[in-house]
Amino acid sequence: MHNTIDPSQRWLVTGATGQLGGHLVRRLLAATDPPRVFAWTGRKPAARIDGAECSHIDLTDVAAIGAAIDAARPTHILHVAAMTAVGDAFSNPELARRINVDATARIMAAAREIGARVAFSSTDMVFSGDAAPYRESDAVQPLSVYGRTKALAEEAVVSGGGLVLRIPLLYGLAADGRATTFANQLTALRGGGELKLFTDEFRTPLWVEDAARIMIALASSATTGVRHVAGPQRLSRAELVAAAAQAIGATHAKLLPISRLEIPAAEPRPADLSLDDALLRGERPDLGRTTFSVAARSFAAKIG
Ligand SMILES: NC(=O)c1ccc[n+]([C@@H]2O[C@H](COP(=O)([O-])OP(=O)(O)OC[C@H]3O[C@@H](n4cnc5c(N)ncnc54)[C@H](OP(=O)(O)O)[C@@H]3O)[C@@H](O)[C@H]2O)c1
Repeated sequence: MHNTIDPSQRWLVTGATGQLGGHLVRRLLAATDPPRVFAWTGRKPAARIDGAECSHIDLTDVAAIGAAIDAARPTHILHVAAMTAVGDAFSNPELARRINVDATARIMAAAREIGARVAFSSTDMVFSGDAAPYRESDAVQPLSVYGRTKALAEEAVVSGGGLVLRIPLLYGLAADGRATTFANQLTALRGGGELKLFTDEFRTPLWVEDAARIMIALASSATTGVRHVAGPQRLSRAELVAAAAQAIGATHAKLLPISRLEIPAAEPRPADLSLDDALLRGERPDLGRTTFSVAARSFAAKIG
């Protein structure tokens, strides 16, 4: 892996225990001559990640955010911590706003004071799903509390001179072996379990390791504003999991195709959130996307 980062830099990753954050931290630490890496986790006591300086910082504590950034003085901040469960954000919109919006605004303010560069992970869920594929210039129209909080956070990042990277559904294994939704699905598939999967909900799924690589590369560049990053294919959830079943040889898996409209949901589920990332592909042709079949070899090998 060719992975060069200036070792004099100081990188802060929020949400370091999360799916994306875990890969970001490990990728930074895997650099030929790694920079200092500050890893924030929401859980208490702070998680331990060898090589990183880990702290527990509750993002609802805005005073703690400012003090911790002042102390670490990062040159780069990868802000990926969030309340990510759509159902949790719906049930607790006030807390979702504090974690996803207010904390982001506080991070931007603290970053501005020390001249740190910020890259923020947003989501395809800022769109309604009625007019895909979506470009950066399309108006946001979130259907969920989660999507609304991320759209508001984007405003704070853009107005503060940061980079918003809108990412689609991520798939892959966690860097620390923790169970992800995708990993749980693979386990169910291998056990011959039954999975109900939407055939009418489309995304442009991206391998989580690509998301980490691309986010670090863009944070290292001068790119600001909003960029989309999409996986190489538009797939329904059913197609994604069927491809995973094939990749791990789960020939006995029972995949039951269903419509998203059959499952009652508190908020409408967007039909098609495919992202158009032609802007980024044009600017950075060096940042390729791994095809599903190649990514699958990696996770098939890891789960044995
Ligand atoms: N996963 C996807 O498919 C996807 C798609 C599009 C965009 N995104 C965006 O990408 C980012 C990462 O997503 P992910 O799936 O990797 O997230 P995740 O696995 O759910 O992890 C979320 C992280 O945020 C931290 N966190 C949550 N509440 C916190 C709080 N109050 N204080 C401090 N930390 C807190 C968690 O810390 P603890 O666990 O230690 O509490 C965890 O490290 C998010 O910004 C998300 O909106 C994800």
